Amino acid sequence: MRVCTSIVELRAVLPDTRRVGFVPTMGALHDGHLSLVRAAKAESDLVIVSIFVNPMQFGPTEDFSKYPRSFERDRDLLEKEGVDVLFVPSVKEIYPDGARTFVTVDGLSERLCGRSRPGHFRGVTTVVAKLFNIVEPDLAFFGQKDAAQVAIIKRMVTDLNLTVRIVVCPIVREPDGLAMSSRNAYLNPEERRRALVLSSALQKVEHSFHQGEHHAPALIAIGKDVFAEEPLVRLDYFEIVNPDTLESVHEVEAPSLAAVAAFVGTTRLIDNIVLR
Ligand code: PAJ
Repeated sequence: MRVCTSIVELRAVLPDTRRVGFVPTMGALHDGHLSLVRAAKAESDLVIVSIFVNPMQFGPTEDFSKYPRSFERDRDLLEKEGVDVLFVPSVKEIYPDGARTFVTVDGLSERLCGRSRPGHFRGVTTVVAKLFNIVEPDLAFFGQKDAAQVAIIKRMVTDLNLTVRIVVCPIVREPDGLAMSSRNAYLNPEERRRALVLSSALQKVEHSFHQGEHHAPALIAIGKDVFAEEPLVRLDYFEIVNPDTLESVHEVEAPSLAAVAAFVGTTRLIDNIVLR
């Protein structure tokens, strides 16, 4: 595996003809990330993974400085998966002095996590657009875990006429149902137990949906009731939205995204399920 830290070095190893699959990450890798790498391996001739903790997508009071960083471990895991190129740029490499250009997907970026994390999705789309221009992938792999991110990146790709194809991979969960996340490392044992409320509320909503409840406000109330029994977890949002526009739906007639975000202690976790 080749490790590149500069754009010039990376460009020198990019092939002209082979199908390039790209997996952007912020590191602190877990099986969710590795599932994207495996999907990329299966569908591409050359797999590039990036690790870049993107300061632009963190708010001023968020966890940028304490975000888990485990470069050696990540590098070894990616090497074992047979990744061809690992791109690990510095902040200066991605945002040289004087950078003034941003990519914003209007409207969608203010929904779900975008409402409680102003500027977050602008940071995501700006860095992902830059990474796409640097890596020039044919395919790029994203997790359904961040469903709003998927909708926003797909919109950006369409709106900017980018030629990359976005491949979405299912949520990988711990055996008890908790969605894998680099931020799970922040949880103490008590919080780890309480964090299960996210996936159990979604499961209960899905169950009620399959029992015939298709009225979104009623489904949301069922989900919120599960949170009410867990007072140490603070709900940020529980919404049912159109998975492409992220607009609220009233009746679940087409596949709809039930999405939740909550603070377990000081750790903000997200999860979702598609009702279909
Ligand atoms: P990060 O949180 O490191 O996630 C990288 C990719 O892994 C994302 O596409 C995310 O959806 C996926 N992922 C995370 N947990 C997952 C799980 N449990 N199951 C399946 N996929 C999972 O998302 C980002 O980084 C950043 O916003 C980034 C796109 C790299 C831009 O900075």
